[in-house]
Amino acid sequence: ETYTVMLPAAGSGRRMGAGFNKLFLELAGKPILMHTLDVFERDHNCEGMILSVKPEERPTIEQMLQAYGITKVKAMVPGGAERQQSVAACIQAHQDGGVVLVHDAARPFIHQDVIRKLVEVASEYGAAIAGVPVKDTIKVTVDGVVEQTVDRSKLWSIQTPQAFRYELLKEASEKAEADGFLGTDESMIVEQLGVPVRIVESTYDNVKMTTSEDLLFGEVLLKRRQ
Ligand code: CTP
Ligand code: MG
Repeated sequence: ETYTVMLPAAGSGRRMGAGFNKLFLELAGKPILMHTLDVFERDHNCEGMILSVKPEERPTIEQMLQAYGITKVKAMVPGGAERQQSVAACIQAHQDGGVVLVHDAARPFIHQDVIRKLVEVASEYGAAIAGVPVKDTIKVTVDGVVEQTVDRSKLWSIQTPQAFRYELLKEASEKAEADGFLGTDESMIVEQLGVPVRIVESTYDNVKMTTSEDLLFGEVLLKRRQ
């Protein structure tokens, strides 16, 4: 089953502390952004990619696409101040319907079989998101004092990709904008419509490159896969 992937890439990487967009940092000599795009370049079911980028970074990214042989980028749209706005710009740029995936450009280690499952479930039910069971015990606290321990068997750490039928995601995005609702992932805006969102079990190595320790883990993962 085919899909289009939307990749927000317009962040500034503040927590990474590189002083520039962390997606340009290299793992094994290749920019993080190119590692991520390469996953979708190689997936035959991926029909195209829509990126949201900072306008001033667009020329650099275009050069990289050339240099690394990435051919499926259909559009690059200007990102917004918040991730949700960057994704909204991608959603508005898409024309074709079908199933779409939203995936953080900062997650280069997503597995093809998880992508395939997400697309399959979203196609059948409308919405599917990648996640892993939490490993830690999670407690709710108030002013540094435990109020409650949450039943861990119900808790999932949510990642991207998140997959949706396009029309559903578009409606959710437009409603969120109209309501002034800002979610931390796409699932939240779809949940607002009252639509059930299904979880697809992903892997613990689908980490987001967020702080500098993540780069060390990323280098190790790449070595293991080679
Ligand atoms: N992103 C985006 N537009 C924004 C903010 C984030 O397109 N306004 C993208 C990032 O480029 C990244 C993904 O959303 O690929 C996940 O965001 P995050 O990991 O938070 O990246 P940054 O926002 O760049 O990092 P930080 O929050 O540390 O500044
Ligand atoms: Mg951010």
